[in-house]
Amino acid sequence: MKQVEIKTTFTAFETVEELPLDVKSLMEKAVEVRKNAYAPYSKFRVGAALLLDNGKIVLGSNQENAAYPSGLCAERVAIFQSGAIYPEAKIIKMAISAASDNNQTKSPIPPCGGCRQSISEYEFKQNTPIEIYFMGETGEVYKSDSIKNLLPLSFDKNFL
Ligand code: THU
Repeated sequence: MKQVEIKTTFTAFETVEELPLDVKSLMEKAVEVRKNAYAPYSKFRVGAALLLDNGKIVLGSNQENAAYPSGLCAERVAIFQSGAIYPEAKIIKMAISAASDNNQTKSPIPPCGGCRQSISEYEFKQNTPIEIYFMGETGEVYKSDSIKNLLPLSFDKNFL
């Protein structure tokens, strides 16, 4: 028997002001599209902005449904849109911003498990890591160099 340890690493930026200019601009787009969230049930709005290797930016916001599980998170709306429109392009960077209508989110809000699995699928598909930046409404921004930090021991196509 042995213990297996998996280490994950993140970079913490104190605020958006500390981000490289291109990432700050991508995060601003995530904040902007967050306003388009259709979130009448949770009042929790999420925006996601992707930068592709063809220079295009693809956006997504969460879309809810009265039949709750039929809704979709912002991150998946964005990555599925990217796959649908630019199937050959690689996703280089992803910026995520989440805010509640009820209280101010001040700490970085990471993508949910289902979104991590979907991001992981695209990382495997394109064989290039995706930089993921995530934050709340204000405060620190966390950066992960790859989905692998957020989803260690992932299930992927190699197991099939
Ligand atoms: N949500 C996202 O858009 N992304 C996540 O990673 C976590 C949750 C959305 C789904 C739902 O519309 C609302 O936030 C509350 O869970």
